Amino acid sequence: MSLTDSIPNNVDLGSDRKLLRALEKWQPKFIEWWLEMGPDGFQADDIYLRTAIDVDPKGWATYDYVKMPDYRWGIFLTPRNEDQFVNFGDNAGQKAWDEVPGELRGILRRIIVTQADTEPASVEQQRQLGKTAPSLYDLRSLFQVNVEEGRHLWAMVHLLHQYFGRDGREEAESLLERRSGDVDKPRILQTFNETTDEWLSFFCFTMFTDRDGKYQLAALSESGFDPLARATQFMLTEESFHLFTGETGIERIVQRAAELSLQDPNNDARAQGGVDLPTIQKWINFWFSSAVELFGGEISSNAADYFATGLKGRYREKAKYEDHSALRDIYEMNVLRDGKLSQEEVPLRNALNEVLRDEYVADCARAVRKWNHTIKKTGFEFELALPSRRFNRSMGMYAGASFDPQGNPITPEQFEANRSKWLPTAEDRAYVKSLMVPVTEPGKIANWIAPPKKGVNGQPFEFEYVRFNRN
Ligand SMILES: [Fe+2]
Ligand SMILES: [Fe+2]
Repeated sequence: MSLTDSIPNNVDLGSDRKLLRALEKWQPKFIEWWLEMGPDGFQADDIYLRTAIDVDPKGWATYDYVKMPDYRWGIFLTPRNEDQFVNFGDNAGQKAWDEVPGELRGILRRIIVTQADTEPASVEQQRQLGKTAPSLYDLRSLFQVNVEEGRHLWAMVHLLHQYFGRDGREEAESLLERRSGDVDKPRILQTFNETTDEWLSFFCFTMFTDRDGKYQLAALSESGFDPLARATQFMLTEESFHLFTGETGIERIVQRAAELSLQDPNNDARAQGGVDLPTIQKWINFWFSSAVELFGGEISSNAADYFATGLKGRYREKAKYEDHSALRDIYEMNVLRDGKLSQEEVPLRNALNEVLRDEYVADCARAVRKWNHTIKKTGFEFELALPSRRFNRSMGMYAGASFDPQGNPITPEQFEANRSKWLPTAEDRAYVKSLMVPVTEPGKIANWIAPPKKGVNGQPFEFEYVRFNRN
């Protein structure tokens, strides 16, 4: 099969010889990387996967059994709008760029590479999880997320190859050379170097870390660089399944935790072989505080530049805002002075990371309210809480100080004294890992998690989502 056939696309790959050659050289290296760093041990199995084949909202994907190395990683941009303009910043009103403006080349390349690097990183982080999936439904969800992160890498590599010449091709190679957690050549962002070796962390990752991805992609989908806007718009279509996996995954563990607590004479879910709610709270604290770092510094000249140039907008910039210059407003920020928090005014453009973080935090808070509702419905009494964005930070302006989960300033000694109450301990991690035993029979599920409300693509939960081909 030729490359134009094996890569579903709507970018007219066949007619661009140069681009085609570059991708033809890159593809075998990608497959090599996938076999080395993708899901360990399931490459010969048939997985019931969704494959993007078009950008039409009504029929953009097909579902069928596929062996992962044969997955058709495609390249799709949402349709071109001839009247597309730069919609914000100092270049507002110009026609959207179809080529990279010379003076923005460096900054745009950095934005694309940083986004691109997270895609293979998460696949690497999740490489061993298949071995302990709590059900076939969940095993399939993991692989669906993995292959789609692979496609997101393709989407970004397409931009690098098409618009950045030799530099772009070199960046595309490097994306397959860095490794999550590697001491010498780690992935660019720290969260993408954390180990994800049990399923509570997988669901927290897809809930909290992938959700940062959603807001970054949404901000880039407003971009004045049209191919980037159109690539990220389509990536968001797939991303919503990843977020769904995380949010409902945690919800199912929470539900089961509450049910098992009610069954136990001491209300102890652990005694019933489950994850208890205080443990889930610690995971939330850890993953949320790690994910909020991804939005960058609270006061940031980079963020101001990205906006001023028209490359990265606010969340729903076109739909939500009237003033697209962001020059007239100020942002009230909680700043720590002499151990006390006080509100200070920051020019809005310098606070745009914080503005995007606000959207993210509100979205996470919504999910926590939903999980609390789930607990309430079981009849058990417990409330989960989203920690303050100041809690447990190692970057940005709260990094040097200590805060409790409610966001109150405390001493480093107080933080240390409570660390094991607020964050996962080695013992907690060992306990959660001890629960991870694979369940591979259709319709069965591990004891620590509730089954999903429904299956995939109209199939029941009992459907054989993965067919093993072992000998
Ligand atoms: Fe992605
Ligand atoms: Fe994702």
